[in-house]
Amino acid sequence: MSKIAVHLGQTLTFQGNPMVQGIDSVSHTTRGALAVQDGRVLARGTAEDLQHAYPDALCYDHGAALLLPGFVDAHVHYPQTAMIASWGKRLIDWLNTYTFPEEMRFGDPDYAADIANRYLDLALANGTTTMCSYCTSHPESVTAYFTAAEQRGMRVLGGKTCMDRNAPDGLCDSVQSAYEDSKALLTQWQGRGRASYVITPRFAPTSSPDQLSALGALWAEHPDCLMQTHLSEQPDEIAWVKTLFPDARDYLDIYETHGLLGANGLYGHAIHLEPRERDRLREVGAAVVHCPTSNTFIGSGLFDMAGLVEQGQRIGLATDTGGGSSFSMLRTMAAAYEVAQLRGVALHPSALLWLATEGSARALRIADRVGTLAPGTEADFITLDLASTPAIAQRSARARDIWEAVFPTIMMGDDRAVQGVWVMGERRV
Ligand code: GUN
Ligand code: ZN
Repeated sequence: MSKIAVHLGQTLTFQGNPMVQGIDSVSHTTRGALAVQDGRVLARGTAEDLQHAYPDALCYDHGAALLLPGFVDAHVHYPQTAMIASWGKRLIDWLNTYTFPEEMRFGDPDYAADIANRYLDLALANGTTTMCSYCTSHPESVTAYFTAAEQRGMRVLGGKTCMDRNAPDGLCDSVQSAYEDSKALLTQWQGRGRASYVITPRFAPTSSPDQLSALGALWAEHPDCLMQTHLSEQPDEIAWVKTLFPDARDYLDIYETHGLLGANGLYGHAIHLEPRERDRLREVGAAVVHCPTSNTFIGSGLFDMAGLVEQGQRIGLATDTGGGSSFSMLRTMAAAYEVAQLRGVALHPSALLWLATEGSARALRIADRVGTLAPGTEADFITLDLASTPAIAQRSARARDIWEAVFPTIMMGDDRAVQGVWVMGERRV
């Protein structure tokens, strides 16, 4: 048993999704505390109570900083780290011009390791302790990712991106190799330490029907694994998908007819959905993942957060780096706020914080382990400075409550606001 550590700061406790249960379901403690032992949360409560309960603990006082679960990024492409913020293209052109040439480099294990390490350091500096990443079609890229995460003790999810058409030869696998490589990597990494393997067909246009079926079969053999893909991101993409799969009722139907729709499915973007697709996603209990900085950067469209919440969909929040223009979940929350505003809805700061932590963890089906700081869960947490720049400080100085105090950091904050990052109770930043 390691020595107990008690961390003091402002805390928030969510009783549920604030968009559904209302903000009264969130409680704020100005002098809150988190007790940590052996990498897990032992208790949370007031500073007074926990200091009294654990008088011999090591005590770390973070003052007025906000103690939160580490951010959970539910959809990211770590191999796109070095080409983030590439100018001037929309989805299909952007993939062909910038993304595929960069992803071709990941057959080189040294390059893959270099970028995986760089990406995870950037993510941690931004307070993101868990992410679900697409790798490239090269198994080396998967090894590099999980190895780099293991070295940092991080809970991460991800998988080999499968694609056997409409991409350069150097990136295409085949029906058989996609199945066999994915299966071998899944066997190697699923449940090893804190790693989870995610079956990953990139999206309908880059997989032949046979490849989609092979990956559907693999998922049926491993139903506890997650499966991630992209769905209905841009109108041009959807029109192209229609020509490639003329018999499908809609985009989601393609995944369903190939065994790729289920409760453990993650569908990135999901912007331009037909009513039938929304109903089916809800019926099967799949998760949709909102990637707001990507949706504005690539010009994809405005995600219907309020309508999807109203329908009872499970929703995660994500950077979608490098289609997304930031590594920061703060910046991502700001973009989610702006996208919702363009649809006439103002998301409350509690909703944004919930989405970036417990909401994404729920989408990834790991909320029993990370994203809540409930006793017994893994002690991945951060401290946020709510006055990290002069511009933010002068605004938060006027705050009348925690929501006014945190909203300027959500809207204007970046890695400078992330004061400290702990992974399994160990300080990493
Ligand atoms: N659709 C298929 N691949 C990708 C990708 O890498 N990024 C985004 N934003 N959309 C995609
Ligand atoms: Zn993506």
